[in-house]
Amino acid sequence: MTPDNKISRIQELVYEIRIGEVMQKDVITINPQTNMSELRGILREKRISGAPVMDGDKMVGIISIEDFIKWLADRENDCPISEKMSKDVKTLYADEPLTHAVNKFERFGFGRFAVIDRQSRRLLGIITKGNIVEGLLKKLEIDHYKEEEVYCRRVEHFFEDILADKVVLLFQYDVAGHDFKRAGEGASRLKASLKRLGLDPQIVRRVAIATYEAEMNLVIYTEGGQIRARVEPHEIFVKVADSGPGIPDVQKVLRPGYSTAPEWIRNLGFGAGMGLNNILKCASKMDLRSEVGKGTQLYIRVDTKDGATSETN
Ligand SMILES: Nc1ncnc2c1ncn2[C@@H]1O[C@H](COP(=O)(O)OP(=O)(O)OP(=O)(O)O)[C@@H](O)[C@H]1O
Ligand SMILES: [Mg+2]
Repeated sequence: MTPDNKISRIQELVYEIRIGEVMQKDVITINPQTNMSELRGILREKRISGAPVMDGDKMVGIISIEDFIKWLADRENDCPISEKMSKDVKTLYADEPLTHAVNKFERFGFGRFAVIDRQSRRLLGIITKGNIVEGLLKKLEIDHYKEEEVYCRRVEHFFEDILADKVVLLFQYDVAGHDFKRAGEGASRLKASLKRLGLDPQIVRRVAIATYEAEMNLVIYTEGGQIRARVEPHEIFVKVADSGPGIPDVQKVLRPGYSTAPEWIRNLGFGAGMGLNNILKCASKMDLRSEVGKGTQLYIRVDTKDGATSETN
């Protein structure tokens, strides 16, 4: 199949949805004895552009604003609407698919169709193009929510469906030091992967921000290292490790605003001394360990059922 003849969801829906589902049910009808001069007032008051004309239980025609305009333009005398209405009423059955309505709108160019019951032929409602659009949008919205729901529960199913005492997903990204062109790539690839797993967007965002800040520190202050993310049913654990130069005073670097970033790094927009604090805000728990000359390890845990806030040690 080429992309051109692919069936869209809309095309599918016009076959699925019945006219009765989208039509207006509380129809305002007009008596055939009503005078043309009264029509404008009625249509305006009821905020409609046309209505079926009913003689008791029987539908005898349809009158619309177009008929009124024509009557005005022709400067004819006042008369009952039964003389100006269209008597050849095109109807649709409530159990027909929407596509029939779409076709009839195209073929006849009318603004509205009366919808009747197939057996009793009783008037059930009226359908306009607006009703069709509204009905389709509503269905598409429901589709969208259903999809989101399925998507969000995917990770839960994933862990439930696999038979093991413990299931762990591991993602690893290598980070090159001083490579500003690729800086942030690891965090953004991890974010995309977690999203695809169907994790809560809020959780994904927190992991992504924390990982990004840690990755940037690797790019700026080290020769490179590794991001490892471990996804478990109830938590995501990210370890960002490098092999030097290490941090002499771990407590000091955790202070908001503390930074050793040189001028040229600050000119790139980094070096506010807020990265580690941002990580702290995103994490359920954060642990920074470092040894000068050896390297630094940052452990970030985000509980998947957790709201926000954090603790350090
Ligand atoms: N992996 C690391 N290796 C060595 N030093 C680090 C490492 N990570 C952070 N640091 C030190 O900790 C300081 C504070 O880091 P933090 O991420 O909080 O702020 P920043 O990187 O200076 O500025 P910002 O993140 O706001 O752009 C850094 O300036 C740097 O001296
Ligand atoms: Mg930083």
